[in-house]
Amino acid sequence: MTETASGPLSGALGLPAPRISEGGQTRIIAMCNQKGGVGKTTTTINLAGALAEYGRRVLVCDCDPQGNSTTAFKVPMLDDEKGPTQATVVIDMSDPHPLVAKTKVENIDVLPASMDMAFLPSRLRETGAALQFYARMLGHFQGEYDDILLDMRPALDTDTDSQTAAATGAIIMVDVDEWAMKAVKMQVAQHKKIMTNLGRPADDLDVIGMVIGRVMKPMGDFDAAVYKQLRNHPRIPLLGEIPVRSADLKEARNKGLPVVFYRPKTDTAGFFRTIAVNAKLVTAA
Ligand SMILES: Nc1ncnc2c1ncn2[C@@H]1O[C@H](COP(=O)(O)OP(=O)(O)OP(=O)(O)O)[C@@H](O)[C@H]1O
Ligand SMILES: [Mg+2]
Repeated sequence: MTETASGPLSGALGLPAPRISEGGQTRIIAMCNQKGGVGKTTTTINLAGALAEYGRRVLVCDCDPQGNSTTAFKVPMLDDEKGPTQATVVIDMSDPHPLVAKTKVENIDVLPASMDMAFLPSRLRETGAALQFYARMLGHFQGEYDDILLDMRPALDTDTDSQTAAATGAIIMVDVDEWAMKAVKMQVAQHKKIMTNLGRPADDLDVIGMVIGRVMKPMGDFDAAVYKQLRNHPRIPLLGEIPVRSADLKEARNKGLPVVFYRPKTDTAGFFRTIAVNAKLVTAA
């Protein structure tokens, strides 16, 4: 299905809308890796598309002051000189609903980013209870969405800790790179530390799996060895991989659409559907 002028797009495949999360519980998934440029935003917006196609109601929370997932949906970033922002509602503990923006896809909303989020780490640190703040803010959406995807910035800091503390699960994005395994290790260690600080068992945060982004084949011997290590990680299951597909991904983004809505029949769209199914966020049709 391609974009139409007639209004928001809904489930392209006419698929059933399986609700895995019983009891109306909203699932909050941290799309994370402190390593930059590994495909967190690309996977967030396109996984949101795959989930919406299956009929799930999705909120993309853009946690990165770069605002890439906000602008990818053609939603304006917020400006603290003009009104409340994600950063101000987190700190003020006020209702985030007025900030939520609709996208061209019926089932996807966005909580936009703003540049003042760059100050969130220090503002959260000053509260002395940083881990509570995102959970409180996102709690306002409990039961309204099936899934909230947190498009996190590449950092291990007070803001990403607070976002992780709010999450029920995590998907770790990686690329095939020398530092990939180290980055995964650091990410998992951080998850454990946050759970310990919250007094919760380590497995309370479900590390759903890993997605390898920007895969380019054929690979040299060194990359092939890293790729093999990632694919065979002893504890973190592989949910899928996304080969380099610049045309499909960039053209869809340029239209403000996830690829499953812009080019539903491409293999690129299929990669994101596979991730949604392997992550058990939906059941295969
Ligand atoms: N599978 C892919 N094929 C082609 N280009 C890709 C692919 N995945 C990501 N890219 C491109 O690589 C760049 C980095 O991707 P992306 O912004 O998703 O990473 P990120 O992890 O969110 O980065 P950051 O850490 O800065 O938030 C972007 O220009 C994006 O368009
Ligand atoms: Mg990003």
